[in-house]
Amino acid sequence: MPDLYFKQINPEHTCKAYLFGPENSKNVAIVDPELEHIDEYLDLLKKENFILKYIIDTHTHADHISGAAALKESEKAELIMNNKAPAKCVSMRVSDGDEMDFEGLKVKFLETPGHTKDSISIILPGKILTGDALFLDDGGAGRDDLPGGSPESHWETLQNFLSLPDELVVYPGHDYRGRKPSSLKQQKETNSFLKSRTKDEYVEFLLDLQLGPAKWMNDVLKANYECTTDPKAAWVPIDSPSCEVMGTLQSGVKEQHVNTISPDKLQEKLDNKEDFVFIDVRGISELHGKLGKVNEAINIPLTSIMNDVGQINKYINKKIVAICGSGKRSIIAAKMLKKSGFENPQYVEGGIKAWRKIK
Ligand SMILES: [Fe+2]
Repeated sequence: MPDLYFKQINPEHTCKAYLFGPENSKNVAIVDPELEHIDEYLDLLKKENFILKYIIDTHTHADHISGAAALKESEKAELIMNNKAPAKCVSMRVSDGDEMDFEGLKVKFLETPGHTKDSISIILPGKILTGDALFLDDGGAGRDDLPGGSPESHWETLQNFLSLPDELVVYPGHDYRGRKPSSLKQQKETNSFLKSRTKDEYVEFLLDLQLGPAKWMNDVLKANYECTTDPKAAWVPIDSPSCEVMGTLQSGVKEQHVNTISPDKLQEKLDNKEDFVFIDVRGISELHGKLGKVNEAINIPLTSIMNDVGQINKYINKKIVAICGSGKRSIIAAKMLKKSGFENPQYVEGGIKAWRKIK
């Protein structure tokens, strides 16, 4: 087998793109190109005298417009994606375990769904390109609350990663904080998403962190479904860690300081019929789940507050107490309200579980 030529293109960008091929050949493949950087890729191909044979998108992206369709058109290269990818411009579709012989170089594809239904990872000699199925270290993994995302499938994908050889070096689709690629062994030790959890525990862990997609992401998805070559087809905010769990939080929200209220204090307020607005910020589907409905509260999901904080403005002069399953989303809700001018929005420490004394 020939040696591997491998290059992380524009390592300073938060969206990671890669170039690889057999060392002794001029033919190369590009992974996850962005439309906005297409001229840089073309310059690089020209400078190195490379011929682009394959373009691989690890999944349908919701955070940037893919450069795949434009490169396919200009370089007459094959566009490879998972068999479940909705984009019509895909010319070669791969399934779990498929192998491609790239002039003697073995390229193996794994279906690694969760972040999206069509997510794939690529195994090259000594390396695994994980797309958004696995990020590095405390970056965890890509969010599962975009269309087609599934925490259940993502858990299975993570179990799959745990069974792969330790020495494979992980190259993710994103890194927002300058982390460096490292071995799967190190990820198994340091990445919190690879921590041993049952499927139910993982789903619960993620559910507590989910915000739902920002509106602009739906426009990006649509542009990618349609294989656009127009960089203006959808608006994308600069420098938002959008594919991370909780990545679409507006800037300045995390920095707000908000106060907690203990479950006992909450109960006291309710018993004394104090005048305050009690908001349950869980998703509507969760009201039919394990924790059920909170009859004393109004349900306004965090996703809905994120998309239109104005809907709560009628309560601006009231005291607000937010609650969710375990306190992770209600703290975000309280911080968002604080940033929007509410005086002292509070959140219930430990959430419904602590209030109902559920272990
Ligand atoms: Fe993504």
